[in-house]
Amino acid sequence: MKRPHVMFTGTGRAVPKRIMTNHDFAAIGIETDDAWIVDRTGIRQRHVAGPGESLTSLAAEASKTAMAAAGVNAAEIDAIVMATVSPDHLLPAAAVEVQAAIGASRAAAFDVDAACTGWIYAVVVAEGLIATGNAETVLVIGGEVLTRIVNWKDRNTCVLFGDGVGATIVKRATKGKGLLSSYLRTDGTLAKLLWRPAGGGEMAASDATIADGSFWVHMQGREVFKHAVRSMADACERALDGAKLSADSVDLVIPHQANVRIIEATAKHANISMDKVYVNVDRYGNTSAGSIPIALDECIRSGRITDGSTVMFVGFGAGFTWGSLIVRF
Ligand code: UT7
Repeated sequence: MKRPHVMFTGTGRAVPKRIMTNHDFAAIGIETDDAWIVDRTGIRQRHVAGPGESLTSLAAEASKTAMAAAGVNAAEIDAIVMATVSPDHLLPAAAVEVQAAIGASRAAAFDVDAACTGWIYAVVVAEGLIATGNAETVLVIGGEVLTRIVNWKDRNTCVLFGDGVGATIVKRATKGKGLLSSYLRTDGTLAKLLWRPAGGGEMAASDATIADGSFWVHMQGREVFKHAVRSMADACERALDGAKLSADSVDLVIPHQANVRIIEATAKHANISMDKVYVNVDRYGNTSAGSIPIALDECIRSGRITDGSTVMFVGFGAGFTWGSLIVRF
């Protein structure tokens, strides 16, 4: 069957109320400064979930906005595919909690764990559900409350991450619009460069694993940086090949927002001008699976994406996982 099978018909986003700036780290005893964080990452602030805010509450809010934009009600949703690595509970899936929260009584609901590439993977899963006749309307969600799984004593990681969720309604394509190509890859041999050593079945959460920090996210930043640039530049090329398009014919690139230097280096390797690349990492930090769908929602609502726009999405994350999509709007 020839693509496109699916298109996006509505988007939404939600972030916690509280904004934490780079200057706020001093108050919690982290030895860092605004100049270092801005210079090395481009991040100026991030949203941090507070009491009463959770992945489920943010995902429900983003989903309701996406449903309103698409003109879809909860009973019409056939499946919820949720990309996250920071669920409110480890059992059952985060998507199940969202299903209950929005009242999507007919929907199958499950999670996809591909870290920061999660939303890209989830869109391809949604395409499969629709192309095989298993669903007509899929709610794809990507988002995190990473601030609840980072080590707030580790300046190598805690300054980088933020909380937020993006939601996308995916439906059968019409008029040749929609998902033109995709590319998904994983290299599990590199898993320990970005992981949580404890908290799973092998080494349970305990006072000891919390005290020694193994319960929280660990990252070898420099190594991750190198792989991210190489893999995302390659993924751009693969998605373009898949859609039989040149970089020039893409109107906008929405990359995973981890670090503006990674984004700039990727664009350079892929021969894409930064004028065409969307950046919001300064305002949100790295929201992992949330970063691309949040940026997509901003681009649609601000008019950066319009009827006929050709957009490339590219991501990289723990696993390592990486991937790309090209979508015609
Ligand atoms: O979402 C996908 C996964 N994540 C990523 O893509 C992140 C990938 N990595 C990165 O973005 C960058 O590697 C970082 C932002 C994490 C680090 O930037 P870097 O330029 O690679 O710095 P570095 O790790 O080489 O560290 C340079 C120095 C070190 O000091 P020494 O050893 O040179 O004395 C660090 O201890 O910067 C120090 N440092 C800090 N200083 C002030 C590390 N974190 C901080 C901090 N404030 N928050």
